[in-house]
Amino acid sequence: MSPKISLTRYLVEQQRMDGHIPSQLRLLLEVVARACKSISQAVNKGALGGVLGTADSENVQGEVQKKLDIIANEVLIEANEWGGHLAAMASEEMDAIYVVPNRYPQGEYLLLFDPLDGSSNIDVNVSIGTIFSVLKMPEDDRGVDEGDFLQPGRQQVAAGYCVYGPQTTLVLTVGDGVAMFTLDREQGSFVLTEENVRIPQDTKEFAINMSNMRHWDEPVKRYIDECLQGKEGPREKDFNMRWIASMVADVHRILTRGGVFLYPWDKREPGKPGKLRLMYEANPMSWLIEQAGGAATNGKQRILDIQPGKLHERVSVILGSKNEVERVTRYHNEAERAGL
Ligand code: AHG
Ligand code: MN
Ligand code: MN
Repeated sequence: MSPKISLTRYLVEQQRMDGHIPSQLRLLLEVVARACKSISQAVNKGALGGVLGTADSENVQGEVQKKLDIIANEVLIEANEWGGHLAAMASEEMDAIYVVPNRYPQGEYLLLFDPLDGSSNIDVNVSIGTIFSVLKMPEDDRGVDEGDFLQPGRQQVAAGYCVYGPQTTLVLTVGDGVAMFTLDREQGSFVLTEENVRIPQDTKEFAINMSNMRHWDEPVKRYIDECLQGKEGPREKDFNMRWIASMVADVHRILTRGGVFLYPWDKREPGKPGKLRLMYEANPMSWLIEQAGGAATNGKQRILDIQPGKLHERVSVILGSKNEVERVTRYHNEAERAGL
């Protein structure tokens, strides 16, 4: 039987290979994984740990925070602030960036996270997760500020998520494909269970919140309408639908068996580019999807090429199996040409 490869060993080997991961980045990823392990414990305890339910606060986007949103945010900050690998952190749950206090050494990386994705699923015992993205401080920068974070997603040096479901699985890219690690609770370590993850180019499964249908734009309506027509329609095949309402869980399914995920702009709040957050959700997930052979767009532009204008920026997201994403993009282009 081949030996089990732990996350630690995987990262050490990545570091040796072409210097893929500098030692500070390796430390950073180990620390993030440790924090995810601790969040996983809290999630598992549920009502026994008193972690369910709502806190008496709202985040910067005006969303009511759950207790676990706050706990997960604190776990990530406490785990990462003292190691000397980071200059600052930014989180969906914090208004402003968190600069590493000057009692600790400052490193050259920036860490961004959605500490708890799928908050509406916490209390109903459905899969949730943590999403993270790592950037490098711009060179010759004297002091860290919010502007340092405003880099397009293609400049990420690592990205991943940890899904807390029937299994706790950490999924990671450092720009050399996508690897999955399952938490072995007896050993207390993440073990490599999938390497070179590839998404099939075609799919018969889509994920979208259908209750927003009446608010969608023409190209999205057209795409979903054609899927719904099944064998009798222009696609000449029947489609299946899944919507978990945790992006981590939907993306995990797509990385595992293909599919397409859409959270498009809609007319409910026309001034808002979308619901999902570019820096904490769309960028890390888009890089993982691309690294696995899929594609990610906002309908008009590759997500990883978007220049962020602000930290908590939102974006329209369409990602997954390449041929489907290209089709949705084509529908956007055609609608634009037709002036729709
Ligand atoms: P979060 O819990 O971090 O706010 O993110 C929730 C996101 C995403 O995970 C999911 O795909 C989507 O919101 C669900 O939105 P709806 O409730 O509108 O379906
Ligand atoms: Mn989220
Ligand atoms: Mn969240």
